[in-house]
Amino acid sequence: MAPPSGRDIAPAKGKLGVLLVGLGAVSTTFIAGVENVRRGNGLPIGSLTQMGTIRLGRRTERRAPKIKDFVPIADLKDLVFAAWDPFPDDAYRAARKAGVLEPPHLEPIADFLKGIKPLPAAFDQSYVKRLNGPNVKSGKNKRELAEQLRQDIRDFKQRSGAERLVMIWAASTEVFLTPGPAHQTLAAFEKAMEQNDPAIAPSMLYAYAALMERVPFANGAPNLTVDVPALERLAEERTLPIGGKDFKTGQTMMKTVLAPAFKARMLGLAGWYSTNILGNRDGEVLDDPESFKTKEESKLGVLEYILQPDQYPELYGNIFHKVRINYYPPRGDNKEGWDNIDIFGWLGYPMQIKVDFLCRDSILAAPIVLDLALFFDLAQRARLGGIQEWLSFYFKSPHTGPGLYPEHDLFIQQTKLKNTLRWLMGEDQITHLGIEYYEKA
Ligand SMILES: NC(=O)c1ccc[n+]([C@@H]2O[C@H](COP(=O)([O-])OP(=O)(O)OC[C@H]3O[C@@H](n4cnc5c(N)ncnc54)[C@H](O)[C@@H]3O)[C@@H](O)[C@H]2O)c1
Repeated sequence: MAPPSGRDIAPAKGKLGVLLVGLGAVSTTFIAGVENVRRGNGLPIGSLTQMGTIRLGRRTERRAPKIKDFVPIADLKDLVFAAWDPFPDDAYRAARKAGVLEPPHLEPIADFLKGIKPLPAAFDQSYVKRLNGPNVKSGKNKRELAEQLRQDIRDFKQRSGAERLVMIWAASTEVFLTPGPAHQTLAAFEKAMEQNDPAIAPSMLYAYAALMERVPFANGAPNLTVDVPALERLAEERTLPIGGKDFKTGQTMMKTVLAPAFKARMLGLAGWYSTNILGNRDGEVLDDPESFKTKEESKLGVLEYILQPDQYPELYGNIFHKVRINYYPPRGDNKEGWDNIDIFGWLGYPMQIKVDFLCRDSILAAPIVLDLALFFDLAQRARLGGIQEWLSFYFKSPHTGPGLYPEHDLFIQQTKLKNTLRWLMGEDQITHLGIEYYEKA
């Protein structure tokens, strides 16, 4: 058992620069949301760091501070932003086009948003087939593009006066890739960049640039990016937090709540059919079969790990699991996700559950971006390097160390996160045993 640690954590002094790859629906909703909260024009609902509390010690002690008062995370007033995007729209125009936030949340902060102009992107249409924007870098090879990204990072740090930086990929989902020889060592990775090897996707150039500049990196999309041995090792060697992938927001969040409930009650599952309609740019990108394949893998993985068909063959040995995403422009960012779940109980009698989640994709994702920025910065100040499994809570496909399977159950993930915060601050772990209230020593 890990003892209370009470880790030395460097203070959150000065500004924290949040580097966003992609200035689309999620990024603009995040930035505009933070600015609205700072001006008292809304609450950071959905953000654990801002709204959540954490129980400490015995239940009878009644100690439950807000997380932001318990751990030394950066204050919202200290956040500054930069972004890259192949489309030249500033954050105001991009937010208007994304159509997520209404004028009362955009017009009063229009000047602030107009000040955030995207830097030219390291972009290649072979990895995101449905997009083509003019605001892109050129260079003789991928390594040169990565060097330009590194220069952007240094320039932003100087220009903004930020003390510390974190980078978050909130850009489009790239085509499906699997790890290959180019991803195994840093030398192979760098050589592959020089040779313009197709195994090196643009997202990997950002991750590489971040780590080379000693900036933590989190991946909000399902593409293979920082989860390759070369970059994992680089992050470990430099004690830089990395993690991903794919923000866990709507349908998959519900799946990782419901599936553990069926398993807890030993109810069987025959099939789970999930379909979505959405009409934002993300939906358009995911309409391409190669980008969809990346998303599909990420969405399909969760049931297998939660339900453990090997251990429960009678209950979960024969599940039909299907996930569809349909691009349907009239809905914009307001996604509708349907689930039809066929379960069975006592003596095998069938039952059905229907979930119809009329959600708002970016409204759910924005607070996740905020929490990840603040926790990745905290992790770095606490010298937690490499994969941050304790932040699995935020991801559909949690990044884990070699040989470890991912934890998908939302409430186990939450317990893990909170216990990590307790451990960082030298507080006792909460095991929920509770026998001490009933049995006196
Ligand atoms: N909103 C959610 O609930 C949610 C959940 C999980 C994952 N995601 C993922 O987050 C990402 C962002 O979602 P969104 O709704 O903001 O999409 P979006 O299409 O509105 O924004 C993505 C932006 O990334 C830009 N981009 C593409 N390639 C780039 C590159 N190489 N460099 C810089 N910018 C690049 C695009 O031009 C676009 O403006 C997507 O990959 C999406 O799948 C979103």
